[in-house]
Amino acid sequence: MKLPPPEYEGTVSVEAAIKQRRTVRAFDSRALNLNQLSQLLWAASGVTQDGGFKRAAPSAGALYPMDVYVVAGQTGVEQIEAGIYHYQVGGHLLSPVSQGDMRQSVARASLSQMWMAGSPIIIVISAEYGRVTVKYGKRGIRYAMIEAGHIGQNIFLQAQTLGLEAAIVGAYDDKKLIDVMNIPSAHEPLLLMPVGYKA
Ligand SMILES: Cc1cc2nc3c(=O)[nH]c(=O)nc-3n(C[C@H](O)[C@H](O)[C@H](O)COP(=O)(O)O)c2cc1C
Repeated sequence: MKLPPPEYEGTVSVEAAIKQRRTVRAFDSRALNLNQLSQLLWAASGVTQDGGFKRAAPSAGALYPMDVYVVAGQTGVEQIEAGIYHYQVGGHLLSPVSQGDMRQSVARASLSQMWMAGSPIIIVISAEYGRVTVKYGKRGIRYAMIEAGHIGQNIFLQAQTLGLEAAIVGAYDDKKLIDVMNIPSAHEPLLLMPVGYKA
């Protein structure tokens, strides 16, 4: 599914977004629209170089070991069925991984932090270390983790500009989460980010 093109201008300053950003753990059930989802994914990992391949977040050696997934709940995003989707950076599009509302299962895999299931979407940032260790050896694992942090902050700040709130979650069972999400085992989840309107 092709996502709407991202906007490159907004009305909230970066300073205001930094000042307002908080980890929010109680969300309204109100759906996001497709433009908001598009904007969040672009801020996470979208291409920002005209005619090029470089992305919103910095990446050691421009090797881009990260993949971004969306766990969309039932009526989580207008015009999108509940399911798990992979963000295809090149085409700025979403491809389905699996169908059905998996938020409860993702929350259970996250040491039963059930509040997560109340957010309309959960963005999952994963790393395939081989794409960066091939050049940097073991140090590449550190680089991928640093990159995940950059992506996470971009999501946080972009959410603020859209009138949305986000949370960040690092406590989960790696294997259970990969199983629940049905993603390649090489795509190791590093951060989970519930996003939605504040309750
Ligand atoms: C790597 C990382 C992992 C985190 N994991 C969790 C988590 O599993 N559950 C949770 O409720 N908050 C988690 N947090 C959020 C922190 O509790 C939160 O950032 C901290 O309390 C500071 O609050 P603020 O983000 O609102 O400024 C995590 C934050 C980071 C950076």
